[in-house]
Amino acid sequence: MNYPFKMFWGSASADFQYEGGFHEGNRGLITHDIVTDGSHERPRRITYQMPDGTLGSSAYRDPIPANAIGCVHEDVYYPSHHAVDFYHHYKEDIKLLADMGLSMMRFGICWTRIFPTGLEEKPNEEGLQFYENVVDECLKYGIEPMITICHDELPLYLANTYDGWSDRILIDCYVKLCKALFERFKGKVKYWLTFNELNVLQGFSHLGTRNSDAQTTWQAIHHVFIASAKAKILAKEMMPDAMLGAMFATSPAYPSTCHPDDQMAWMAQRRRLFYFSDVMLRGYYPSYAQSIWNEYDVVIKMKEEDVDILKEGTLDFYSFSCYRSTTVDRNDKLGIIALPFGKNPYLKSTPWGWPIDPVSIRYVLNEVYDRYQKPLFIVENGLGEVDQPDENHYVNDTYRIAYLNDHFLEIKKAVEIDHVEVLGYTMWGGIDLVSLSTGEMKKRYGWIYVDMDDKGNGTKNRYPKASYYWMKEFIQSNGNNL
Ligand code: BG6
Repeated sequence: MNYPFKMFWGSASADFQYEGGFHEGNRGLITHDIVTDGSHERPRRITYQMPDGTLGSSAYRDPIPANAIGCVHEDVYYPSHHAVDFYHHYKEDIKLLADMGLSMMRFGICWTRIFPTGLEEKPNEEGLQFYENVVDECLKYGIEPMITICHDELPLYLANTYDGWSDRILIDCYVKLCKALFERFKGKVKYWLTFNELNVLQGFSHLGTRNSDAQTTWQAIHHVFIASAKAKILAKEMMPDAMLGAMFATSPAYPSTCHPDDQMAWMAQRRRLFYFSDVMLRGYYPSYAQSIWNEYDVVIKMKEEDVDILKEGTLDFYSFSCYRSTTVDRNDKLGIIALPFGKNPYLKSTPWGWPIDPVSIRYVLNEVYDRYQKPLFIVENGLGEVDQPDENHYVNDTYRIAYLNDHFLEIKKAVEIDHVEVLGYTMWGGIDLVSLSTGEMKKRYGWIYVDMDDKGNGTKNRYPKASYYWMKEFIQSNGNNL
């Protein structure tokens, strides 16, 4: 492969932030369809209905009442419903990415396009056909598709009926989804991610559990581990050449001082972060897992067969998101899942408070490769910024070019100096899409500007930014413009 540093370069997206078309092709509702818009200051809300018909909403990561049903309220803006309409723009979008010279496109499957409630016996042909059109369009231009089977969401019906992943039945539903996808895309799609960012769970929208207490959460996560391992085992039977990974949020952390207690706090933070990948890449729970369960007074119910499933279903590569670094202090409180983000006085931050730290990507590539010695995939990185288009919709995003330039230089060092095996890099939201954390449109990552505002107004036309041309040159010159 001739691409810079002999790896794939591409763009990444998630269905509910990018695709839209929520009422088309027999698609059912997903948990993200009931999450409202928000902002940096105003948290997104999850909307629901009580048995007596009263409507309510709770903050994004908060539990929703046990007997409530998640539902769509009239007159509320839900960004996932139309997003930036990849559903109708996929040909144009893929052509724009191909003209840039990209070699990979990562995208997420909307579970309910394939199984509208999650319980159907047969997959929905319209949904499969849509994704096959997308895959074929990529292959037409020599772009390798990478599929995220489940990106932070699940069918709303499964969340409402079974309390999401807290019920083991979800494992069968998920494996059924995988089987339908593998059957359809074997021979066309080689790279798969079973799940996205398990280690930063967003409560109801992610695991589908109304309760976010420790027992429910750690038990649900065990079910997800088994589901991922079963998917890997099935994939190897159906597609021997497939490569499977899962995506982990992997922000590097630095102890806030050299005080021994800060060092111990750093170790605890890293264990909490790697708890997920330790199980999924090594095939068994790490020894420190018991101390975490003890801390929360949790007992995980496991079936006897689970030990063998985990062992057999280990992933082929580690893929991750890395946007920023953080610091860890002895006074920090580790949440069940969400890890604290400490400030670093040496680094500048984005308007959303995310520190910009190019060296951190080299650091984390080395840290993870040392731990697993399996190939790595950077499947999310990029700069969320406020772009100001001129009257021709052109954005001169020199700040994004600087961010990418500096990060690519550090990736190059990891590959060429440290000999870390990196399979590829997909930048987050190459075509502008809706922000996950805030639901805003104005937090943009793309090389390509989409004419749409925070409430979904605009033509949704696409316009290359300055960074588009810089990236094109990066690929054409084999990385010589850094
Ligand atoms: C990752 C998610 O956490 O970060 C994406 O996998 C998300 O879905 C991305 O969009 C960036 O976060 P945000 O909040 O800026 O959209």
